[in-house]
Amino acid sequence: MGVEQARELMKGFCRVCPICNGKACIGEVPGMGGTGSGSSFMANVESLANIKLKMKVMATHTIPSTATTLLGLDLDIPVLAAPIGGTPFNMSKEISEEKYIMSLLQGCYEQGTVGCTGDGVPDYVYKSGFAAIKAVHGKGIPFLKPWEDTAFLKKAAEVKDLGTELIGIDIDSIGLGTVKMMGTSIPLRTPKQLETLIKKIPYKVILKGIMTPEEAQFAIDAGAAAIVVSNHGGRVLDSAPGTAQVLPSIADKVNGRIPVLVDGGIRFGADVLKMLALGAQAVMIGRPLTIAVFSDFDNGVQNYLAKIKKELVQTMLLTGCEKISDINNTVLYTE
Ligand SMILES: Cc1cc2nc3c(=O)[nH]c(=O)nc-3n(C[C@H](O)[C@H](O)[C@H](O)COP(=O)(O)O)c2cc1C
Repeated sequence: MGVEQARELMKGFCRVCPICNGKACIGEVPGMGGTGSGSSFMANVESLANIKLKMKVMATHTIPSTATTLLGLDLDIPVLAAPIGGTPFNMSKEISEEKYIMSLLQGCYEQGTVGCTGDGVPDYVYKSGFAAIKAVHGKGIPFLKPWEDTAFLKKAAEVKDLGTELIGIDIDSIGLGTVKMMGTSIPLRTPKQLETLIKKIPYKVILKGIMTPEEAQFAIDAGAAAIVVSNHGGRVLDSAPGTAQVLPSIADKVNGRIPVLVDGGIRFGADVLKMLALGAQAVMIGRPLTIAVFSDFDNGVQNYLAKIKKELVQTMLLTGCEKISDINNTVLYTE
């Protein structure tokens, strides 16, 4: 059990580094790395590390509360598990997709939050995710790739049995090598074509893979219920900026019209607070939670999320934030 177990099970896919920062896994897609030079993955981690927090300790408040709500979900912490799928070609040949995703979603459920599920080729990737969401009483968010309309809607129709009213689409996956490798492709869409697709989907749609204010506006125009500022963990476009760098201008543009989530390089409770201070309502954590699954299938995710919560409480306490809605950019040093 622990990191040694994860290192053993993930051999050839992930080195389980002390800090998951993209340096040891440059170009390893498929695998757990970032595409090309790995610079987009590394930029996610580095841009967060470069942000410094203002310590404010002269206050009267009590122990901070991390509870929040998002798209009708009550969350104990503003942290969701990012959708990560494709166990045998990205993570480990030893463990089934079902076992991996069930452990992830169960852990999130027990910690009072929600795990997202991924998609890919073959179909067992999304099917295992859907089964896990059903098992946790709908407390999960299924993410599908933006397949061509008929294929997409066929898969999306299966969401109706899961107990969730949310569905995500990772629109940035048009660039994903793993999908091409499997002999399929994903169409590019104009904002209008995206709107046509979203109109046919009977759930609230979360668009993931927004990196500019212009595309955030397109997402709103197309009818998205929320967006995720994300560069897919640095796996699609090389030389993208870190998500913490682009988040403020996107949050400004959205201006509270829909929730803004963000992922990429979030490793500590302080990183969660930084992302909220930069304008997000909640964050997603990817690779570290996958590694937590492989460290301990029964309690790894629960332990990791408990650690993040403890760090977030401590960071809120030391920056004068009593509740999640108190967090804003006054806690940040700005040049
Ligand atoms: C191995 C792997 C598989 C992924 N699969 C999916 C997927 O199926 N759907 C999706 O929307 N994002 C997928 N992602 C991207 C993650 O959801 C997320 O954007 C990214 O991992 C966040 O960065 P972090 O890992 O640095 O926290 C995947 C990422 C990795 C590393």
